[in-house]
Amino acid sequence: MEKIVLPDIPNFDKIEVYKKHGGFGAAKKAFKMTSDDVIDTVKKSGLRGRGGAAFSAGLKWSFMPKTTDKPKYLCINGDESEPGSFKDRQIFEYNPFQLIEGILITCYAIGAKSAYIYIRGEYHKWVKLMQEALETAYKDGFVGEKMKKTFGTDFSCEIYIHKGAGAYICGEESSLMNSLEGHRGYPRIKPPFPASKGLWGCPTTINNVETITNVPKIIEKGWEWFSKIGAEKHPGTILYGISGHVNKPGVYERPSGTLLLDLINNEAGGVIGNKKIKCVIPGGSSMPPLRGDQLEGIKMDADSLRAAGSAIGTAGIMVMDEDTNLLKVLLRISRFYHHESCGQCTPCREGTGWLEKTLRRLDSGNGTSADLDLLISVANNIEGNTICALGEAAAWPVKFMVDRFRDEFEKYVKTDVVIPVNNKVHSMRNTANPLANIKH
Ligand SMILES: Cc1cc2nc3c(=O)[nH]c(=O)nc-3n(C[C@H](O)[C@H](O)[C@H](O)COP(=O)(O)O)c2cc1C
Repeated sequence: MEKIVLPDIPNFDKIEVYKKHGGFGAAKKAFKMTSDDVIDTVKKSGLRGRGGAAFSAGLKWSFMPKTTDKPKYLCINGDESEPGSFKDRQIFEYNPFQLIEGILITCYAIGAKSAYIYIRGEYHKWVKLMQEALETAYKDGFVGEKMKKTFGTDFSCEIYIHKGAGAYICGEESSLMNSLEGHRGYPRIKPPFPASKGLWGCPTTINNVETITNVPKIIEKGWEWFSKIGAEKHPGTILYGISGHVNKPGVYERPSGTLLLDLINNEAGGVIGNKKIKCVIPGGSSMPPLRGDQLEGIKMDADSLRAAGSAIGTAGIMVMDEDTNLLKVLLRISRFYHHESCGQCTPCREGTGWLEKTLRRLDSGNGTSADLDLLISVANNIEGNTICALGEAAAWPVKFMVDRFRDEFEKYVKTDVVIPVNNKVHSMRNTANPLANIKH
């Protein structure tokens, strides 16, 4: 299988090696096409965003206005703060020039003269590597004014790198734009969508690092070639980041639609100590967890995972073995989302706090079965009631983990609870409805 995004070519992060393997040939080809043809090619290829929502990249580009007196912008989302996701940094390190070439082609297609690569604040090493690669590309005439001569075209664009400050919320596209503008990383209400009113109020496209790194190969080899790889409706390869209780955690580039168990058992070397799998989160910590005994036949693409009751997200596969304490896992996840909630929307700001607090109560041994219902109820009250999808990110792991592993969570609840009713002390067996089983 040909690897598109992370090819097994030594020193591919060196510009001479990249050029030797045809690097920047796709940009040259694209600049001879019309921008509409480039968009059409990407649309027909079936390329879908790799940043979480799996939205068609070509379709998104086509939303950019053709005629406008405002500048247009491209933002590359490399915030990568979702727990379990660590694939974009591989591109910064091992294939920075293909990302740069993808940016050139995308800018040309949408008519942008400036692109911003937004990189996660903690990624010091990768910011530095990407900055060095960008400087080399500028020096060798592949970016900026000099590219006109290099490619023999009238088109040129500038690329800037922006380092975040360590906020998960700034990966959400509208917060990312606010952050780039120097404002607090608060998500914006949509509509208006970025294609009509984005960065500095101008038409803007935002795409994930991996999405854009696919583009040069699509232009070079054609949409038919790309559309035949992997799952029909979600074609191409995917960078699967596998972590947790596996023998060989890492990032594996394989076709979309690869069996989840194949990735865990064959690529990642199976579960440590040959233990059974208790739970897998297939797309980064915000996606619905799946039970280990229900993984047979599940494929890793957007549609198959939706049918299985989860979502592809960033394809960060988190594997938990049979000895895992899921209460501790969920508490850790919920603590993260509580900490990262920007505080703008009340259901998220307050709800994430309640989730953490309730899980802490269960973890301390003072929780009841009613707390399990409370968790689901709080999660339901967050979901769909916030400006951005951080609400869903916080709600889904709780809602689905408690629901799908109720047996597991029941182990941590107090079985005999004493509650005062009408000033008398009553003992009650633990139950989902605390008032249903009061013993007088
Ligand atoms: C809270 C939150 C965090 C996000 N973080 C990221 C991120 O780190 N990287 C990313 O590409 N997309 C992230 N997204 C999704 C982006 O909003 C956006 O959909 C994506 O960058 C679009 O790129 P794509 O279409 O190429 O996938 C996040 C969304 C939310 C709600």
